[in-house]
Amino acid sequence: MAEWVYTDKPMHSENRRADARYADKDMATQCLHAGERWEKQSFWTSSTPIYHSTTYFYDSAQELDDRVYYRKPGYVYSRGGSPTNTALERALSTLEGAEVTHVCSSGMAASHLALLTAGAGKDKLILCSSDVYGSVYTMVENIFPHLGGRSILMDFTDLDKLEDTIRREKPAVVYFEVVTNPMTKVIDAPAVIEVAHRHGAVVIVDNTFTTPYLLKPFEIGADFVSHSVSKFLSGHGDVLAGSVSCYRKDFDKLHDMLIQVGCTLGPNEAWLALRGLKTFSLRMERQCANATEVARFLENHPLVERVRYPGLPSHPQHETARRIFGARSGDRPPRYGAMLNFDIAGGDGKASPGGKDRAFRFLDALRLILPATTLGDVYSLIVNPARTTHRWLDEEALAAIGISPGTFRMSVGIENVEDLKEDLDQALKACQ
Ligand SMILES: Cc1ncc(COP(=O)(O)O)c(C=O)c1O
Repeated sequence: MAEWVYTDKPMHSENRRADARYADKDMATQCLHAGERWEKQSFWTSSTPIYHSTTYFYDSAQELDDRVYYRKPGYVYSRGGSPTNTALERALSTLEGAEVTHVCSSGMAASHLALLTAGAGKDKLILCSSDVYGSVYTMVENIFPHLGGRSILMDFTDLDKLEDTIRREKPAVVYFEVVTNPMTKVIDAPAVIEVAHRHGAVVIVDNTFTTPYLLKPFEIGADFVSHSVSKFLSGHGDVLAGSVSCYRKDFDKLHDMLIQVGCTLGPNEAWLALRGLKTFSLRMERQCANATEVARFLENHPLVERVRYPGLPSHPQHETARRIFGARSGDRPPRYGAMLNFDIAGGDGKASPGGKDRAFRFLDALRLILPATTLGDVYSLIVNPARTTHRWLDEEALAAIGISPGTFRMSVGIENVEDLKEDLDQALKACQ
């Protein structure tokens, strides 16, 4: 069987590099300008056009040949990319502090591409946090064994156990999310990356929950960063997209995987994501502030049993969160994200989740917050994980994670925070 050979094609990755014009600017400025207007035309457009063309040609056969053989940056066939995708790729490289980025058709496609590019496959072991997004969990368990690989899924919060496993099993790839879903456990990302590297593993961080607003994984040594761009980065619940950022040395392989899997992002989606990204920094500031306020409100509410939000001093990994999210904040206090988790109590204020019926009564009573499964949107969203994101786990497995029928995951949006508190309060009372 032919071996993969990746030659150095310097012009190949050129279009997807961070935008040097804005590298030293604040994230608010980067969100607006990075990736836009990067190629000189006889005129300028303030926003990048949507290039629908599937194929590209040039003034001479030689010019096309230069693109086919990656001697010059450009486009040949849109499965490999388009100028609209390029604008988004350059913007994301800039925000993540990455060398290069490829966008793709979903967050799942991004995780898959990152794993393939990082070396998962025949005779290779993936060591994956058991707290990753459910479909990533099942992909690691189901798809990679078909390719002749192996996987171990385990809790990444116990660093001693993790190091023992890494030392013994020698994984090729280590994959994790920094804030877990739905329990908001915070993994000590710098420590995990250090241990993985010490034992020769390549590290992928899914930065969907944390986003570059809280943490830039390349600054703490990650080799690959993947995203569901469908969430906070695009932010409006109107586009499915993913991204993989990496070092230039890995880009040719990533590009070949993208072309061969065929999961390129369409230009309309790239444009929507790019448009959503303009307000990313503004949205995150408001969402993090709203989440902090909502978490405090719920923590003091007599009908709430327990709240988990990394920004609350009562959160078990609050100190870890403060340290790792503080690292990128410079002169501002750390931000703790917009995801929280709470259990409703019985009418007496004691733990009495009340089962599925009470959970459904709570969801049905909400008037403003949307009971929908995604996260990261401008709208606040709530799900009960036992019936949605974690529905395939039995009661024992749910209890082991800490999920009861009365556990809710909330993604806090940009609404007026008093309106959010009022909606939660009336639904908590109505479901008793
Ligand atoms: C952390 C995380 N990674 C990846 C994904 C997959 O993203 P997508 O739905 O865009 O395929 C999700 C989806 O919810 C997610 O929460």
